[in-house]
Amino acid sequence: MSQPIKFAYWVPNVSGGLVVSKIEQRTSWDIDYNRKLAQIAERSGFEYALSQIRFTAGYGAENQHESVTISHALLAATEKLKVIAAILPGPWTPVLAAKQLASIDQYTNGRIAINVVSGWFKGEFRAIGEPWLDHDERYRRSEEFIRALKGIWTQDNFSFHGDFYRFNDYTLKPKPLQQPHPEIFQGGSSRAARDMASRVSDWYFTNGNSVEGIKAQIDDIRAKAAVNGHSVKVGVNAFIIARDTEEEARAVLAEIIAKADLEAVNGFGSEAKNAGAASPEGEGNWATSTFEDLVQYNDGFKTNLIGTPRQIAERIVALKAIGVDLILSGFLHFQEEVEYFGKHVLPLVRELERETVASLAVA
Ligand SMILES: Cc1cc2nc3c(=O)[nH]c(=O)nc-3n(C[C@H](O)[C@H](O)[C@H](O)COP(=O)(O)O)c2cc1C
Repeated sequence: MSQPIKFAYWVPNVSGGLVVSKIEQRTSWDIDYNRKLAQIAERSGFEYALSQIRFTAGYGAENQHESVTISHALLAATEKLKVIAAILPGPWTPVLAAKQLASIDQYTNGRIAINVVSGWFKGEFRAIGEPWLDHDERYRRSEEFIRALKGIWTQDNFSFHGDFYRFNDYTLKPKPLQQPHPEIFQGGSSRAARDMASRVSDWYFTNGNSVEGIKAQIDDIRAKAAVNGHSVKVGVNAFIIARDTEEEARAVLAEIIAKADLEAVNGFGSEAKNAGAASPEGEGNWATSTFEDLVQYNDGFKTNLIGTPRQIAERIVALKAIGVDLILSGFLHFQEEVEYFGKHVLPLVRELERETVASLAVA
């Protein structure tokens, strides 16, 4: 029987919320707000939280808490929630990530996970003095990073001789609590991102998209993974606007876009477009994003989880039917809306999932 679809939320550890808009947002990037949000989320049925890594401000996001540090703080404030810490190869080496996360895993009863992000923002790399690799080279490095991470976490006397990383007879102690190792997520949409997922990642995270766009990626990844004898789960980004009526929800979207921070969206847009076009096939994240799409910086409006609780629940179950395992959600007013989602949307999703199982059993 298929597993219930899972829910994650974006940790707003970056100032300015999840939309690049001057609309009022009662979301804060500060730690007290984030601790309370994590507690609300775990009570509301969210299984995961995803922290972001940024070293410099993009799209008007002036301040950013570091991802591993805030992930640990949120784990310390919760009991069940798993927190996925974003890590960027380059600034992080596999040995540092392996060691940090193994310790956190020990302290938190096995609730840390990692999102390996491959980098898209050249200006950020230049600012922090990190060499900038070509698009597919970034993924080649990320793949070595993941292979090394898994080796360190699961083997004693680990040796590895790659183009980017080397290990000789290395034994990490203590190892993480989770067996065989903490879950490894990755982000991206390009062919290189999909190929990497089909070989080494436990989870593939992608930007918001239409059902057809998401299905094409899932079909590609799962076909390649089957050839590789690997299995990979899929999480899709969505900016969720759930309101009692569809009109109210659509009005919120219209206001977010009408109040878009033009300068910040255009600045981000040109960087993102370079990133989107950077993959040899031109299929990367943001390759086809419009101005409106870019107001949510991971194309979250495109997934269309905007409407009444029932409309949203039905669309989530339709995404599950094409193979989506997890919805990664962003909200305008996080604390209030995560609670609303847990109360009004999630029970409907579970009801529809049960109905699907029952109808399959009858058929
Ligand atoms: C859900 C998700 C989360 C991401 N989080 C981060 C992040 O925290 N920091 C970052 O620099 N990049 C992040 N990225 C960017 C990706 O790692 C990748 O560099 C980008 O999507 C470009 O990929 P592509 O051109 O290969 O499709 C994220 C991407 C996705 C889909």
